[in-house]
Amino acid sequence: MNWLTKFLQSSIGKKVLMSLTGLFLCSFLIVHLIGNMQLFKEDAGLAFNVYAVFMTGNPVIKFISYGLYACILFHAFWGLYITSQNRKARPERYEVVNGGANSTWSSRWMGVLGTMILIFLVVHMTNFWGRYKFTKMPYKQYIEDLSTGAIDAAESEALDVKKMQFTQGNYEVTIIKDLYVVVADAFKQWWYVLLYVVSMAALSFHLIHGFGSAFQSLGLNHSKYNGLIKFLGIGVFGIIIPVLFAAMPVYFFFQQ
Ligand code: HEM
Repeated sequence: MNWLTKFLQSSIGKKVLMSLTGLFLCSFLIVHLIGNMQLFKEDAGLAFNVYAVFMTGNPVIKFISYGLYACILFHAFWGLYITSQNRKARPERYEVVNGGANSTWSSRWMGVLGTMILIFLVVHMTNFWGRYKFTKMPYKQYIEDLSTGAIDAAESEALDVKKMQFTQGNYEVTIIKDLYVVVADAFKQWWYVLLYVVSMAALSFHLIHGFGSAFQSLGLNHSKYNGLIKFLGIGVFGIIIPVLFAAMPVYFFFQQ
């Protein structure tokens, strides 16, 4: 284990672990975004609620989720540790005089941006993930006409299971935990929407620097692929993904 401690203490070791966990978290963001896009479906939340049951019940996904929580904790606290070490090592004059000379704005604020995302995650997971897993949730009953696709939705009595589905003649009945209504209600509050929009701006700047920097730390930057890495880091992770996430609270706020 001595080599591991030595590797973790070396400046390249610190960066490699931040990069690997950061890129894993980026891959989670894509999956999470695609799943959450179900919120935009005009089906009273049926597709989103079915997706939530799948994500919280499938054993393989459950196993990957534990890796995800470990990566979030490691990336956040190791990042804070590295930031504080760098601050101690850096003479103050350098920060004032040369602060903008060799680095971008996002790169100098990575610690603050990361802390903002961590605070967002604590609020976010307590409200949605924690509530779904550990508290009594509302249930909804959907009756879908299989020939026309029309969906009738109404509140339902709670079940012992997360979801029950059966077909009766031409109708498919689904009774399911209603996470959709929890999300929709949360985004009726302006301050909650503001928190999400500001956090997504922080996420954007964090990823604009972080995505490209991860490839550099892993030695995977090659002139052939640098254009693609820049496009993914700025265009996809810096703009498209945060904008689509921010659109969700805004959409529900203006739907009331
Ligand atoms: C703004 C739009 C977002 C909405 C509406 C949303 C919604 C949700 C909901 C409903 C859950 C609980 C159910 C589930 O596990 O899927 C959840 C879990 C989670 N969210 Fe979000 N989310 C959003 C953005 C984000 C962002 C930007 C991040 C990361 C920076 C994030 C990180 C997480 C994590 C880590 C979990 C726990 C996942 C798991 O247990 O596997 N979410 N989110």
